[in-house]
Amino acid sequence: MEKIRIEKNTVQETLIVPLYGRKMCSEKFPDLYTDVFAERLCDRLDYDFSELEKKSNSFFYEFGALEAAMRQLDMIWEIREYLDKHPRATIVNLGCGLDETGKACDNGSCRIVNVDFPDVISVRRQLIPEQEREKNIGCDLNDHSWMDEVDGSDGAIFFAAGVFHYFRKDEVRSLALELSKRYSKGRLVFDSVGKLGLKLMMSKTLKNMGIRDVDGLFYVNNPERDLNWSEGITLTSKGYMLGYHDMKSPHIRSSHRLLARIGDGMMKMSINRMDFE
Ligand SMILES: C[S@@+](CC[C@H](N)C(=O)[O-])C[C@H]1O[C@@H](n2cnc3c(N)ncnc32)[C@H](O)[C@@H]1O
Repeated sequence: MEKIRIEKNTVQETLIVPLYGRKMCSEKFPDLYTDVFAERLCDRLDYDFSELEKKSNSFFYEFGALEAAMRQLDMIWEIREYLDKHPRATIVNLGCGLDETGKACDNGSCRIVNVDFPDVISVRRQLIPEQEREKNIGCDLNDHSWMDEVDGSDGAIFFAAGVFHYFRKDEVRSLALELSKRYSKGRLVFDSVGKLGLKLMMSKTLKNMGIRDVDGLFYVNNPERDLNWSEGITLTSKGYMLGYHDMKSPHIRSSHRLLARIGDGMMKMSINRMDFE
């Protein structure tokens, strides 16, 4: 089968790390997390994984893989909770990359929309066939015209996993406010880190992308204060690593859990949920 090429040092490449992380986590910590799609997708990519493979047994790399998995488990928790109340809602994966969380939450009646840059969507289309009730949209998320294609009449839950670190603060704010205007009773879920976390955890990626200064970028030190954008939005925030699951699973070391506590505490890793009026 023909392999699909992913270029190095592009925004597109940022989708590789969480994808590979989910594959690794499924192999190393199957009691905690399995992603049936990730392994199959990695095999279909023409991408040099050797650098990631070399690091895959290191403690910090394992922790990175756990980060990718915990984030997806948190998103799944929020999506399922929303679908319990709105079973025919549209699940919208913002900056989807090659993530198939929408499908993992499919209840047989919801709709699924995946949005990313056109070049990423073109790669996605070659690798993942659109199924019934599913649609891909190639668009910059900051060009809000993609929302014209998303029907939220039966409810809509939007989630962005590992995406807003590349956005400016005003871009995330304006996206959230526009969604809250258009999708009454909708929900937006996204992860964030504090300024220190953004500097430490994203430094290599941001440098590769030519971004030197994190000041204008989106980081959240205090969700209740920093995300207080509208009276029509109810905000809830939980710890990203330990807010939803205790990570007490075979093969997970206590040192991983200690680092998870530091991540949620000092690095301010959070999952933020905005419920619209
Ligand atoms: C770190 S990857 C995460 C991918 C996926 N959410 C996951 O968890 O595997 C970031 C994704 O956000 C997308 N992205 C970043 N900025 C974007 C924008 N302005 N519009 C659309 N997609 C964007 C990238 O193309 C990439 O696929």
